[in-house]
Amino acid sequence: MSRIVFLLLLLLLISSQSVIAVEEDRELALQLPPDSLGKWYKPANERDVWLHTMFRLRREMQAISEYAALEDAQLLKKWLARLQKDYRSIGEMVPEWKDELESELLEKMAKAADSGELEKLQTLQRRLGKSCRSCHVEYKLSAALRYRTPDFSRVLVESEETMEEEKYGRAMSRLTMLVNRIKIASEDRRADAAMTALDELQQRLLDLEGSCASCHKQERQRQHIFGQQMRVSLDKVREGIGQGNAKQVGRYIGKFAVDVCASCHAIHRSQSDLRELLSGK
Ligand code: HEC
Ligand code: HEC
Ligand code: HEC
Repeated sequence: MSRIVFLLLLLLLISSQSVIAVEEDRELALQLPPDSLGKWYKPANERDVWLHTMFRLRREMQAISEYAALEDAQLLKKWLARLQKDYRSIGEMVPEWKDELESELLEKMAKAADSGELEKLQTLQRRLGKSCRSCHVEYKLSAALRYRTPDFSRVLVESEETMEEEKYGRAMSRLTMLVNRIKIASEDRRADAAMTALDELQQRLLDLEGSCASCHKQERQRQHIFGQQMRVSLDKVREGIGQGNAKQVGRYIGKFAVDVCASCHAIHRSQSDLRELLSGK
């Protein structure tokens, strides 16, 4: 009996391990939308025209279902005409997608509406819905990531001191270098070097704060990251350096890194990285 249990356990162990091995090998492929789609998003366009077209399509599909159920031919036709126009515009905006469209379904839907064959109309509408979904499965996520996540490659950090502008990635590397220099120098009792690095770090944080305005018009987001908590932590770091207390420095520079650097990264960094990846830069 116990032998069987043992064998079963062994089998379970082996099979679960092979499952893990397969999982580790899994890859995720993301289909990129054609570049022409970019013309229908900010900043190439004034508005996110593509997305608003999609919102209209969903509304039109809903109106058609509702008026078919209510058997209101007049309103049904009004919304069918709108759906037709917006669905066609997909192929006008992104010519590469023209062949994927099933525009003939819309003509059939219009005919069914004209002859009052509402059940047929609903069947055709369900088929049209499938054509929406098949494009979404392939492109919805990659398009949203590619065109609607914040674009940090366009944001520059301006130095208040030198008036020079720096790319985000470079400004970030400098911040990391300074944070580490403060830790290293305070541990090795080089108070002057630690203090100089702290001064520069604080200046660079002010510069970074200036860059938030290119996307956030309000004070609120800046306060969330660069607020009272940050000032208290950096005061403690300064005090620790002055007193030669490396432990205090380490503790509060760590707290600062979590409150400021990690909080902001949690919101922006993976989005920025994904956008960059999908932009093929
Ligand atoms: C040939 C491709 C294609 C077809 C066909 C298409 N869409 Fe889309 N749709 C997209 C892409 C790409 C997005 C992602 C846009 C974004 O998030 O910026 C999208 C997004 C949407 C969204 C926004 C979803 C959300 O995240 O809230 C709606 C709603 C939508 N589509 C409705 C429709 C409807 C309804 C149809 C069919 C009548 C349709 N779409 C047909 C490509 C397509
Ligand atoms: C390239 C554009 C861009 C830049 C630059 C930028 N952000 Fe954001 N940020 C966004 C977007 C987009 C969101 C998410 C959308 C939203 O506001 O809800 C966001 C969300 C946030 C949020 C959380 C949501 C909220 O509204 O409270 C905080 C906090 C924040 N940003 C802080 C900052 C700080 C601080 C800076 C400057 C150091 C900064 N951001 C720079 C684009 C940007
Ligand atoms: C807007 C809020 C924000 C704050 C505050 C912030 N970062 Fe970043 N960080 C980003 C974004 C966005 C990126 C990706 C930008 C890019 O690579 O172009 C990034 C990338 C980085 C990178 C990678 C750089 C590279 O070239 O790959 C490092 C390192 C980094 N940050 C360190 C820090 C440190 C240390 C702090 C705190 C002292 C900090 N960051 C504060 C938003 C922020």
